Formats: sequence, C-alpha cells, structure tokens
Amino acid sequence: MKALIASGGRGTRLRPITHTQNKHLIPIANKPILYYAIEAAVDAGIQEVAIVHNADSREVPDYVGNGSKWGIRIEYIPQETPGGLAQVVSLAEGFVRNDKFVFYLGDNMVVGGIRRFVEEFQNSGMNCFLTLARVKDPERFGVPEIRDGKIIGVEEKPKDPKSQFAVAGIYLYDKSIFEACRKITPGKRGELEISDAHQYLIDKKYSVGYTEITGWWKDTGKPSDLLEANRLVLDNIPPRIDGDVDRGSDIAGRVVIESGARIINSKVRGPVIIGKDCVVEDSYIGPFTSIGDRTVVKDSEVEYSIVLRECKILSVGIRIEGSILGNDVEVVEANGKPRVHRFMIGDQSRVEVA
Ligand code: DAU
Repeated sequence: MKALIASGGRGTRLRPITHTQNKHLIPIANKPILYYAIEAAVDAGIQEVAIVHNADSREVPDYVGNGSKWGIRIEYIPQETPGGLAQVVSLAEGFVRNDKFVFYLGDNMVVGGIRRFVEEFQNSGMNCFLTLARVKDPERFGVPEIRDGKIIGVEEKPKDPKSQFAVAGIYLYDKSIFEACRKITPGKRGELEISDAHQYLIDKKYSVGYTEITGWWKDTGKPSDLLEANRLVLDNIPPRIDGDVDRGSDIAGRVVIESGARIINSKVRGPVIIGKDCVVEDSYIGPFTSIGDRTVVKDSEVEYSIVLRECKILSVGIRIEGSILGNDVEVVEANGKPRVHRFMIGDQSRVEVA
C-alpha cells in the first residue's frame, strides 16, 4: 500500500495568506495541515508516499523533506498547472505501478486517522473505496447517490445533491483508477474531476464501495474551516507546559506552552497552544487559539484565532476573535491624536473594525 498526497492548487479562497505560503503549510494547532495527512499515512503502516506539488514552487518539498522525520520515504511529483484531481492521480501512475494506494487531499483532515479505511478497503477486494461524511452543505463537494447500500453515481458540486453525503478527500484505489483518469474529459471547472473518474468506474462495472466517516472530517478550503479544524484539533491536544508561567498568571484547561515561551501576568483559558519563545504579557488568550513561535502579545485579548509566527499584538483595545493572522503581522495601538485606524495591508486582506 502506498499513499499519494495532493498539495498543489492555488488556494484562492485562503488569500491573502496563500499569496506567500502554500495552503497546505498553514498550521493547525501549530502544525502544518499537510503533516496530518503524512502522519495518517504513517499511522496506517504506509512507508512510501508521493506528494504532488505545484511545479513552480519548491516550498512543499523544501519544507517537508524526504520523509526521514517520520522514518518513511517521500518523493515529489511536480504538477505544471492545477488541472484537476484526476490529473494529479494520473501523474502518480509511475510511482504507484501495480500497488494499491490511498489518495489523500492534503487540505483534508480527519480525526482518528485512516487505518480503518485502509483495512476495510484491503479486505473488501474492491477496485475503489470512497469515504463519505454526512454534511450540511453537500453542494460544495462530490456527492454520491446511494441505492440499496451501493453507490450508483457521483456528481461534483451538484445543484440538487442526491444525498446528504460528501465524498471526502481520502480515496482508496487499485490501478483501475488510472484507466478512468485517462478516459474522462474536463468538467465545468475546466479540470479533470475525480468525481467523473469515479462515475466512469461505476459505469464500467468496476466495484466501488464506501465507508462512512463517523468522527469529524474537514476540508480546510475556507478561512472558517481553518478556524474550525483548529478548534477540533486543540480540543484533543494533550496539555503540556514547557515554557515559563509566572505567579501572576492563570492557566486553565488544555494548554500547551512550548519551551522558551513566557507567560507574564496573563490569563490563558484552553484549549490553547502557545509556540516557542512567545511572550504573552498582561493579556488574555481564550479558548481555541493557536499562537505561532516567537509571537508577542501584550496588553491584548485573543480568542478563537490562529496567529502565525513572529506577530506582534500590542495594546489592542478590543478582543481579537475569529481571526487568522499571517506570519510577521503587527496589530498595534495607534499613538497620538486624532484617534484613528491606520492600515498597512496587502492585497485581498480583510479587516473588520468595531
Ligand atoms: O474535500 C473533498 C472534495 O475535494 C471532494 O468532495 C470533491 O469531490 C473534490 O473535487 C475536491 O473538491 P475541492 O473543490 O475541495 O477541490 P480543490 O480544488 O480544493 O482541491 C483539493 C486539494 O487538491 C487541495 O489540497 C489542492 C489539491 N489540488 C487541486 C487541484 C485542482 C492539486 O494538488 N492539484 C490540482 O490540480
């Protein structure tokens, strides 16, 4: 069994963060989203992983490395332009050869890993196995039509979904998927859609099974999805305090404070993670917040937010909530009169002021 992970695409819905950073490297609970996919593969006993990445950037290969961090082998397959998930699969034919494999979208997260799916697929002897998650908004996803416990169709982002399920971005295949990906043509988005490849397999009477994801699953395509995934991961994080907490501070609930971080005269109410060498002083850090390494928060309040590394949040009068701050961002009090908001904001940013 091998694993193929997609880390290409343009991440347009997560701009401006994705102007300077590949979306799969955005941290959830201070760990890149992509690492959750790799660790799920490792946990399922998979030793050989290929990651498809945008050909015009070495960011993912340079950051993730050759797999030695996890004791596995990772190879990289460049994709010239994001031509769709079926194209991603086709690019991996030389890597997969005759093996079975799991195709994991690097922006998907699932609690409890993928071991159960891999085992069920291997025991089933099927050509293709889809993982389904019950969702409120199936029209955002690939949607299966199920009759008598069998998948009889799959549609990509349908206006009238035929079930309440989304096809999650964790697919299990044998080599028949390569034939399907070769035979299909681009869909409405101009991309080779993986849902069309699944429909091809169904039409050609290949066996297509499924299993339901009963825990949480998230496609982290939008900013609100990132915050929600961050909440869900932090909710299960084992607490650990390696940094310094002074006597004037109050730490409650699941809290991770990494080494070198200093919490001074502050209140931290978990679940929260505070990265290495941060300083939190005279401040409040509320539930479901991740603070990246070397960030400084002084005389401010932050809750339900993702703050990346090396930010400065200084004397901000109103609580920051539901926010995502990129690397090296400053939110500081404006000095002097008149009292003003003063912005220095890059393209496609969003600011809400009270
Ligand atoms: O998350 C599950 C959904 O993922 C499925 O329900 C849909 O059937 C499937 O088409 C896909 O839909 P999205 O619209 O969310 O796909 P997106 O374009 O966001 O790409 C998913 C991942 O694959 C993301 O990590 C980027 C990467 N990707 C995407 C394309 C189009 C590539 O690496 N190369 C590509 O060419």
